[in-house]
Amino acid sequence: MKILLTAGPTYEPLDPVRFIGNRSTGKMGYALAEAFAAAGHTVTLVSGPTALAVPTHPAIQTVHVETAAQMYAAAAEAAPTAQIWVFAAAVADYRPAEVSPEKIKKAGDTLTLTLVKNVDIAATLGETKRAEQFSVGFALETNNEQAHALDKLRRKNFDVVVLNSLRDAGAGFGHDTNKVTLLTADGVVTTSDLLPKSAVAQDIVQFVLARYAQYA
Ligand code: CTP
Repeated sequence: MKILLTAGPTYEPLDPVRFIGNRSTGKMGYALAEAFAAAGHTVTLVSGPTALAVPTHPAIQTVHVETAAQMYAAAAEAAPTAQIWVFAAAVADYRPAEVSPEKIKKAGDTLTLTLVKNVDIAATLGETKRAEQFSVGFALETNNEQAHALDKLRRKNFDVVVLNSLRDAGAGFGHDTNKVTLLTADGVVTTSDLLPKSAVAQDIVQFVLARYAQYA
């Protein structure tokens, strides 16, 4: 099968030297790409800026992007022919309304930026999802985790949502380990142990492939 996978952060430029971004390292998304490839599938990995080595597995094609708009364009190109979509990227929800062509010079004691909403990649593609396609999203929550994750599943037309709780020590952003809860629309809930991201990725891939075989 062909898998579309988004990973890493997006950077939204303010001027030629500055951007608004987030702390995503891309490790979970890259581990998922490796796990899908190891399971015999072809992966289009649409990656925001990361410090990670480009995957060398021949079944992984990496497309490098910077902004949410670029990530959307690359994902939209791959989505129609992919059976499974996995949205592991931490996309910036907003971008600066204006990008200055020159470096913004220091002036005054405060600086107010106007931000405008970015495209929601998962939700927009979710509207085009066909019956035989399968979409997997991520949710990073700090409170009412499962309720928020299920709300995201419905809003973005996910079949499975992978919940990261910031309350779990050693899990999530910046760590080499992760602990996730997988939720489905029909109420299946399963929680992994705290494991290296590569092992968590293998568990997620096995779960997704089994669900895909059953329902898509
Ligand atoms: N996502 C996306 N495009 C965006 C924002 C999010 O594709 N512009 C995807 C993420 O890759 C993830 C899921 O949507 O799979 C949830 O992202 P999250 O940031 O938690 O959701 P938001 O809709 O931004 O909700 P909120 O910030 O209100 O929690």
